[in-house]
Amino acid sequence: MDNNILNAEMVQNELPTRFIGHKIIYYPSLNSTMDAAKKEAQWGAEAGTVIVAGEQTAGRGRLQRTWFSPAGGLAFSVILRPNINYLPYMIMLASLAVTYGVRSLTGLKPQIKWPNDVLIGEKKICGILIENDIRKNILRHIVIGIGLNVNLQLSQFPEIAGIATSLSDQLTRQVSRSEVLRSVLVEMDKLYSALPNGEILLHQWKNSLVTLGQQVQVNMGDQIYTGRAESVTENGALMIRQKDGHLVQIIADDVMLK
Ligand code: BTN
Repeated sequence: MDNNILNAEMVQNELPTRFIGHKIIYYPSLNSTMDAAKKEAQWGAEAGTVIVAGEQTAGRGRLQRTWFSPAGGLAFSVILRPNINYLPYMIMLASLAVTYGVRSLTGLKPQIKWPNDVLIGEKKICGILIENDIRKNILRHIVIGIGLNVNLQLSQFPEIAGIATSLSDQLTRQVSRSEVLRSVLVEMDKLYSALPNGEILLHQWKNSLVTLGQQVQVNMGDQIYTGRAESVTENGALMIRQKDGHLVQIIADDVMLK
């Protein structure tokens, strides 16, 4: 059997979720699942709809980066329509869903690098991109894009091998992309049900953050902040204690663990 298989029917078979993944649209190849999901959302797709691609030809990452998305990876976007008050929790929900989904399926123990990279050891296994459509203070939809390195042999990609890893490299075997997708959707659905108690998500997220307590460097435009990552606020912002004792609040940018 092909372990790299990605099959929407397999993912949906008796899927124990309230609503996430009840509709899954699969494309063998897409530019980006973000664009396809946005279109579906604008056409009225129901919350929980998932767009998944066998590969992406123009995958995109945070901060205008490109996201490398070959056929061994898992690239998908989930359309959600939460209450606008839950917006700060979406980063937590997405990164925890990946962390728990990977852990329950494989036994690996991923951790989260603030705000939403998922690492195994010091290497990135998953990136998350969140795009919102908010008009006149009304949240129309949010799209959570997840790119997970499932069956990639990083030694073949020396340009990212130093910073990235994959499930297959970690486990020295291939993993079914359908099973990974299913596992992440199940965890996301559970976490979504916990949103009315947002502090539970915040607590779980804090416990999974590898960043807290570490010396970090953050680049925000021309400004560089360095210091100790001390805590996160209830909105998910990172508090950094600088050498001179000042505490700065970072909303969402890129943090280097020093
Ligand atoms: C990052 O780490 O910068 C975020 C990467 C997000 C990649 C995913 S793959 C599925 C979805 N489609 C995209 O084009 N990007 C996201």
